[in-house]
Amino acid sequence: MKKIIFSGMQPTSVPQIGNYLGAIKNWNALQSQYNSLYCVVDLHAITIRQDPNELRQNSLNLLALYIAAGLDPDENIIYIQSHYNGHTELSWILSCFAYMGELGRMTQYKDKSSKHNENVNAGLFNYPVLMAADILLFGAHLVPVGDDQKQHLELARDIAIRFNNVYGDIFTVPEAYIPKSGARIMSLANPEKKMSKSDEAANQISLLDAPEAVMKKFKRAVTDSETEIRYDPESKPGISNLLEIYATTLGISIDKATAEFAGSGYGHLKTTVGQAVVDEIINPIQSKYSDLTKNKDYLHQIMQKNAAKAKELGDPILRKVKEAVGFIVGCVD
Ligand code: TRP
Repeated sequence: MKKIIFSGMQPTSVPQIGNYLGAIKNWNALQSQYNSLYCVVDLHAITIRQDPNELRQNSLNLLALYIAAGLDPDENIIYIQSHYNGHTELSWILSCFAYMGELGRMTQYKDKSSKHNENVNAGLFNYPVLMAADILLFGAHLVPVGDDQKQHLELARDIAIRFNNVYGDIFTVPEAYIPKSGARIMSLANPEKKMSKSDEAANQISLLDAPEAVMKKFKRAVTDSETEIRYDPESKPGISNLLEIYATTLGISIDKATAEFAGSGYGHLKTTVGQAVVDEIINPIQSKYSDLTKNKDYLHQIMQKNAAKAKELGDPILRKVKEAVGFIVGCVD
């Protein structure tokens, strides 16, 4: 049986080339090896106040962007979290197996509650429980997570083990998925920090940035005061990041990329890398994205079909959980 990968993204920001080169591009290659779920987590998004129409639009856009970036909606389960009620049902049950103390210790909760101190709601506190439900509902073996979500994944594992200790082997205990290949793309303005979609727009290249804006950001990329183009992340993080972006965008080795720029200046490097990103990533994805977003019927069909696939995979596990905790199952549905 194929292993199951679960991955979720909030429809509050647009994925950037770091997400693409570090994750989505590799997932394309893994589509046949794994059963993957790519979930647009709109339930998580409302822990921060959202404009309803914007949220609706952003959810649909993220779904379209996943597909435009190469994920096949027939081969993977690409769906909207709120379209399958299993998430909220399991989340309630799991919240009875999560402790106030451990939830209160979550760094993201502490950060977000201090940033949004006018709205420290219980959903923000329970956020990691819903995330655990996302993962455990499908028996996911692997979860690709960045550093900021490692603590939440650890909690999901603790909850699964705790539950299994009481009721037997119900949940698969998930592990972090660390891709074999896959670049770690750094911020252009601060190449010592990872590029993040929650960063300021100027520091990241969103997949929906206009090509001219992409070029401009590359031209402004922070480098160093030397002139030599050489791969050395320690002492030349900016140049190394540009070489890394170039190599992974074109699927060539760092050595080959470095050799291509032997004797050229930083300005040439920046514009060549920018142009490669525009030609290989930005233009193709945006053209497919624009076709998809015009075709609302097709997107609706995808949403329906994929929510049904999620339900088919999740319901048997949810039923086992309900039976385990002592609910009367099977006589109503
Ligand atoms: N919390 C994750 C983030 O903000 C998104 C997410 C929700 C997620 N559920 C998930 C990621 C399950 C992995 C698995 O990045």
